[in-house]
Amino acid sequence: MDIQKRVDAGAEFLKELINETPRIGVVLGSGLGDFANKLVNPIKVSYKDIPKFPQSTILGHAGTLYFGKLNEIPVVLMSGRLHYYEGYSQSEVTIPIRIMSKLGIETLILTNAAGGINLEFTAGELMLISDHINLSGSNPLIGPNQDEFGPRFPDMSDTYTKELRYSLLKSAKKESIDLKEGVYAMMSGPSFETPAEIKYLRRIGADAVGMSTVPEAIVASHCGLKVIGISCITNMAAGVLNQKLSHEEVFETANRVKSSFAQVLELAIKKVK
Ligand code: HPA
Repeated sequence: MDIQKRVDAGAEFLKELINETPRIGVVLGSGLGDFANKLVNPIKVSYKDIPKFPQSTILGHAGTLYFGKLNEIPVVLMSGRLHYYEGYSQSEVTIPIRIMSKLGIETLILTNAAGGINLEFTAGELMLISDHINLSGSNPLIGPNQDEFGPRFPDMSDTYTKELRYSLLKSAKKESIDLKEGVYAMMSGPSFETPAEIKYLRRIGADAVGMSTVPEAIVASHCGLKVIGISCITNMAAGVLNQKLSHEEVFETANRVKSSFAQVLELAIKKVK
């Protein structure tokens, strides 16, 4: 079934359930699942109940959409991300983004776990994404263009909206929150990178590496949404430290810093409202 039909089916189903148009969509990355508890009496919708919606297969990515208000701002939270490495095409991975756009969001906030490439970073720090490098080997817009959403060749020069980044960095500074900024490179995964790949990524200008976010940012940009991306540096990338990488380490760090991650996310929601 084509993507457009799946988007329409999901959006129609959800429109019937919600009583307010969400202004901001948030994709919750590893460790941020609890963030949904901040909403008072949210409407919860399990992915499996949404017609034609792709299902999440990863531990720690539950698969629920939450509609509710945070500081009086109507939001939709996506707990349970879909990844390219799960075997979905990038156009399937981004079905939820198109649905949120159809539901009326104006801004998308993407969060993720990432490996630190910049040697000035340490595990546990947060990085605002200034730009990305797509090394996933694919693009979610491959295939017939959905003219309803955007142009065939969308501009990507302000994907992570400059104005929102400045404003978030400024208020983080004011509140003495340490927020780095840098370029996120996407690799397909699911294997972690080799030390040689990390050296290469550093040379081409990447500060952090991960296996998500880029398809979502491309589709959001195509739909004309403003985007903010925040990475939790859960580990230093392969070869930086003399130790092996594991999903457990990623999970453990994400869990350890979840309250500061949540604080930055809440600030971002306030700033973009
Ligand atoms: N590489 C790729 N993805 C990641 C990493 C990493 O080191 N850490 C968390 N997600």
